[in-house]
Amino acid sequence: MTTHAFWLAGRQATGDTTFDVHNSYDGRLVGTVAEPTEAQVEEAVAAAHAVVDEFAATPAHVRAKALNHVADRLIERTEEIAQLISAENGKPIKWARGEVGRAVSVFRFSAEEARRWNSGEAQRLDTDAGGTGRMAITRRIPKGVVLGIAPFNFPLNLSAHKVAPAIAVGAPIILKPAPATPISSLILGELLAETDLPAGSWSVLTVPNDRMPALVQDERLPVISFTGSGPVGYAIMDSVPRKHCTLELGGNGAAVVLADYASEADLDWAAGRIATFSNYQGGQSCISVQRVIADATVYDRLLPKIVAAVEAQVTGDPADDATDVGPLVSEDAAKRVESWVDEAVTAGAKLLAGGKRDGATYAPTVLAEVPADVTISCEEIFGPVLTVKKVDGEAEAFAAVNDSKYGLQAGVFTHDLQTAFRAHRALEVGGVVIGDAPSYRADQMPYGGAKQSGVGREGVKFAMDDYTYERVLVLTGLAL
Ligand code: SIN
Repeated sequence: MTTHAFWLAGRQATGDTTFDVHNSYDGRLVGTVAEPTEAQVEEAVAAAHAVVDEFAATPAHVRAKALNHVADRLIERTEEIAQLISAENGKPIKWARGEVGRAVSVFRFSAEEARRWNSGEAQRLDTDAGGTGRMAITRRIPKGVVLGIAPFNFPLNLSAHKVAPAIAVGAPIILKPAPATPISSLILGELLAETDLPAGSWSVLTVPNDRMPALVQDERLPVISFTGSGPVGYAIMDSVPRKHCTLELGGNGAAVVLADYASEADLDWAAGRIATFSNYQGGQSCISVQRVIADATVYDRLLPKIVAAVEAQVTGDPADDATDVGPLVSEDAAKRVESWVDEAVTAGAKLLAGGKRDGATYAPTVLAEVPADVTISCEEIFGPVLTVKKVDGEAEAFAAVNDSKYGLQAGVFTHDLQTAFRAHRALEVGGVVIGDAPSYRADQMPYGGAKQSGVGREGVKFAMDDYTYERVLVLTGLAL
């Protein structure tokens, strides 16, 4: 097996050391990855810093062409890349294929936005005598090099969400993939290397997490876009209070089923969506369903449907087309999930499905009557486990959603438009999905959290805003 090189200022390189990537389902070696030396990291950062002005001045059509090229090549190589994501992450192959499709969209949208971007907004200033003959034109300027730190759960698409908007605005990017899943990001490097983007404008550096603080501190990298856990994200932000940090952190997504969602077909739909999206990616999505909050009038009919739908999830080899739920990223992750479920059950929660671990795989699990003070009631489980709670009416349901330090997305199963608007006003989250699970994300939407779920927004155009600032050009002496 050959060693996967990393990407240093647009070219492949290897360092003095390597590390291995294993499949968490069967332990097999997926690949060996080269790790950059300190000197190579310095070279990549210096090259990115040196190209800031040149890249910002690159014509839109050049950036759009490069982004479209990556989208085209992702389509051509979909199956190969999906197999790789599945192998290194343990994600069922059907979800890995979906992830490649989403990354295609991210690059496509970024190409379109790059063409639309920065035409400027004109504003007349002769609204007061002092502004006679004056006009302002506002355009957005990149803040500088972006340090993108990607997580393991969507190793391709969440890397795409950092890289593509940076290219779209002409901001150089250093991407640091998660050590458990670096190979998909390195493939992205292969596709970027086929474009004409300036050499220093992008690097993919497979540095281990214990070397991340040095990158975070580097003053030549003024923008940090991080996706991962809250403690790590806030530690980054606290360590560089003068930098611009975007943090996409955890969530404990709630799915609310209200009284008007009461027909058999309604409850079948809600149960099916809840079961699917508490277990997709083994529950390792920040917007997977962790909490079901159901109105008392539908609870007794909904609960058995949820349990049946969860038990119907096919657990097994992620390489198998039929598999719905594969392993977690590691056996340690599955052991942590196991310990939280055991704690809840010992404290009095009712285990209605699952509750078993086999290596890195944790069975899709349903818990009811969960005490409020156990870990799973307070923290993000990031595993295939959901809790179900009975409430009386909409106000109590919305209060239950908000009774959390997190606020990423919520799903509300209702047919009522007024309820939808009330939910949108009341729920302290970054996104409310009506008639579906909280796990719906289209890649062009603004995506990010309220409360401790994060700071700032991704979603192509929103990340482009985030990587740039307004600079006003005031013109004088004009015949307006
Ligand atoms: C995340 O886990 O935050 C990403 C979810 C998604 O992109 O669907």
